[in-house]
Amino acid sequence: MSIPELDARSLISAKDKAHVRQVHDHLRNHGALKVKLGFLDPDSDYLRQIVLGLHEHHGHGLPSTHSSTRGWFWDVRPQPETIQHRAISETMGDFPWHTDSCYETAPAKFFALHVLQHDRCGGGTLSLLNVERLLRSISPWAKQALSEPEFRIAVPPEFSKGDQRSFIGRLLSTDEQGQHGRLRFRDDLLTPLTPRANAAYCELMHTFAQQKKTQVQNLTSELLPRGSIILMDNGRWLHSRNHVRDAGRHLRRVRWDARPFQKPLSLLAQV
Ligand SMILES: [Fe+2]
Repeated sequence: MSIPELDARSLISAKDKAHVRQVHDHLRNHGALKVKLGFLDPDSDYLRQIVLGLHEHHGHGLPSTHSSTRGWFWDVRPQPETIQHRAISETMGDFPWHTDSCYETAPAKFFALHVLQHDRCGGGTLSLLNVERLLRSISPWAKQALSEPEFRIAVPPEFSKGDQRSFIGRLLSTDEQGQHGRLRFRDDLLTPLTPRANAAYCELMHTFAQQKKTQVQNLTSELLPRGSIILMDNGRWLHSRNHVRDAGRHLRRVRWDARPFQKPLSLLAQV
């Protein structure tokens, strides 16, 4: 299952309804796409306009604002070790497999990364694993157990709001049509709270370990160079990042369409 790719020759593409529809269709059908920008875009105007177009024409929710100075965008680049409570994305270390903002009760449905500077030293590879394929190898009872709110989900200190250190939730849901399974995942934050949740989690991790051997897509700097954007359905792909070797690596991230992680629809056994 390769990631589709679109060209955007100029900023005008982002306002072209047919182009925005292609972005929407690829996100719906594949849960991911790459865009190759044919122009310089240091302020990520293309991405901002695409997210607005997806909102205006295809019902996507808008991003939440990170802060009054950063707006929708978050610059992902290595931060000095002296800063307390750095997010893992701001370190140069490996970032293990996860879905973004899984520690939110309403995680973002989508996220995108604009590569302003790829890692020029061979590190910082983004790896992807398809959730639909993963779920096909998991038993119906385990999928049912993963969709029950029987897991403690810890909130990392750097993202904690107020006193909330964790909450209880499910790991598996579906999209609104019940066609695609959606996973919430980051192993170091999850604790199964019942025997069936524990057994289902073991099955998930066993299957995941098997698929990591053969099903991972590695988006090296050659495949995702400066001037490219990857847009992802956050629940339909797991992603990870290996060690960053270039301190100048610089991505810009936006997450949008935050939604509660609902009880899945009845088609779950088939996803
Ligand atoms: Fe991530």
